[in-house]
Amino acid sequence: MTANSGEASTATGQAIGAPNSRPLPTKTKRSHIMPNDMRCATERRGEEKDMAGPVTDPEGPDKAWWEPDGGFFGDLYREADDSLRTFFGDRTRLNDRTVVEADGVTRLCGLTANSRLLDCPCGYGRHSVELARRGLDVVGVDINPGFLEAARREAADADVAAHFVEGDMRELPDVAPVDAVINMFYSFGFFTPEEDLAVLRGFHAVLKPTGRLLMHTMVTIPALTEGRIPAEERRLLASGRHLVSRRRLDADTRREVGQWAIVDDEGTEQPMTPYDVRIYAPDEFTDLCREAGFASTTCYGGWDGAPYEDASPNLIVIADR
Ligand SMILES: C[S@@+](CC[C@H](N)C(=O)[O-])C[C@H]1O[C@@H](n2cnc3c(N)ncnc32)[C@H](O)[C@@H]1O
Repeated sequence: MTANSGEASTATGQAIGAPNSRPLPTKTKRSHIMPNDMRCATERRGEEKDMAGPVTDPEGPDKAWWEPDGGFFGDLYREADDSLRTFFGDRTRLNDRTVVEADGVTRLCGLTANSRLLDCPCGYGRHSVELARRGLDVVGVDINPGFLEAARREAADADVAAHFVEGDMRELPDVAPVDAVINMFYSFGFFTPEEDLAVLRGFHAVLKPTGRLLMHTMVTIPALTEGRIPAEERRLLASGRHLVSRRRLDADTRREVGQWAIVDDEGTEQPMTPYDVRIYAPDEFTDLCREAGFASTTCYGGWDGAPYEDASPNLIVIADR
């Protein structure tokens, strides 16, 4: 996971179905990896490794790192998201980057005012609100009720009518057909390969026949292995505190395993729950999108529509339904 660097180093919405009240699919428990021990939990215990799925610890609490109250996505995550510089030396603030990304979304998805869009997962709604400002009919889905509350407040302050619905992206709530689905900022690969595929199938199912999926990440295998996203980093946050992040790529599972901590002036660290995310290469995204039913995919390296290459600051996959 990369703090919101924007780039790597890191309308009136139509009412949709009720929040997902069905039980969640099989959960993965959260891992227990301390900052100074970046081996995955199974390696530490010397047990047989799950080569494909997330790092799990059978002795840990029954919460995955990505769940609400899982110890990663919460107040500290929001604080860490607004840093004063990026891996690439970019000094723009989070809001400015969000505007650039929203411009890119409308251009690459060919959207106009009144186009209908699903932002999933929407987090605290930064893209949903920015896109609703442009007249798009936006619905945001996320599993985190605290983030959704923040998104609703943001939409009310901006006087836009984006709608936010609590739901699990592995089993989407009932959403009326949309012109585009966006999955922004490194929000894919949290689960098992089967569940990741189910996410894409859900996105495919909710699109109109001419619809497009846009998936965006800054974290690529070359960026990690070539050190553009460093193994360890300390970054000044807009809050005045620092984010210390440590990460490694597990070559066997192709998952990034990492941990963040927020550090104050006295050096006191508030560690967050370790995370692990499958880092899909462009050809793997393409294969997975095809398997989920998409007709074609194109990979871009930036919001200006530049083709993707290993040195690109972003990987943006557009999949045509
Ligand atoms: C990296 S954040 C990105 C959020 C947003 N797209 C952005 O750019 O600010 C990932 C989001 O995924 C959400 N999430 C994690 N697991 C989820 C799930 N199973 N279903 C829906 N949302 C989930 C988290 O609550 C968090 O808001």
